[in-house]
Amino acid sequence: MAKVYVFDHPLIQHKLTYIRDINTGTKEFRELVDEVATLMAFEITRELPLQEIEIETPVNKTTSKVLAGKKLGVVPILRAGLGMVDGILKLIPAAKVGHIGLYRDPETLKPVEYYVKLPSDIQERELIVVDPMLATGGSAIEAINSLKKRGAQHIQFMCLIAAPEGVEALKEAHPDVDIYIAALDEKLNDHGYIVPGLGDAGDRLFGTK
Ligand code: URA
Repeated sequence: MAKVYVFDHPLIQHKLTYIRDINTGTKEFRELVDEVATLMAFEITRELPLQEIEIETPVNKTTSKVLAGKKLGVVPILRAGLGMVDGILKLIPAAKVGHIGLYRDPETLKPVEYYVKLPSDIQERELIVVDPMLATGGSAIEAINSLKKRGAQHIQFMCLIAAPEGVEALKEAHPDVDIYIAALDEKLNDHGYIVPGLGDAGDRLFGTK
């Protein structure tokens, strides 16, 4: 069964408060999302495998640990997921980046894929799907369906704020995908917004309305 991790590090929680605040403008919002994404990437990479290599310090020869070279990929769900990419790449610059674009069909209300561009070797990569908000879970589930259809084997999902409804839906649809969040909020409102949430993440990141 999928595990759900809530990153309650004080720095993450502090920055998240200002991300939520309606008085935080676009520039600061974008910077804070970037910083939280970096901090979350630090936590999510905790279990990366290491290997010993031989090195020489100015004092003597020794062995020391380096990353074992696990291949990683970051997959933002367009468009709000883009706001988290650079923050993650600061810590794992060698990761490849794929993109998945989804829109909501006005009649069925289901997410429909309109753009997919992925690294050619996704089946070998540990993929981190990112979207700031996990609301109903529809987009995350569809994005992960899309990755699995193309051969992805190892997928994690990372977001800033999740609604319990979204977490349950994602766990049920993809029990093999662990979920990393900065805050688990109360609920969804009638318009599909997370309460208390932060509003529309895409609009706040890009200054649109
Ligand atoms: N997407 C958002 O940007 N905000 C929400 O509250 C829910 C979905």
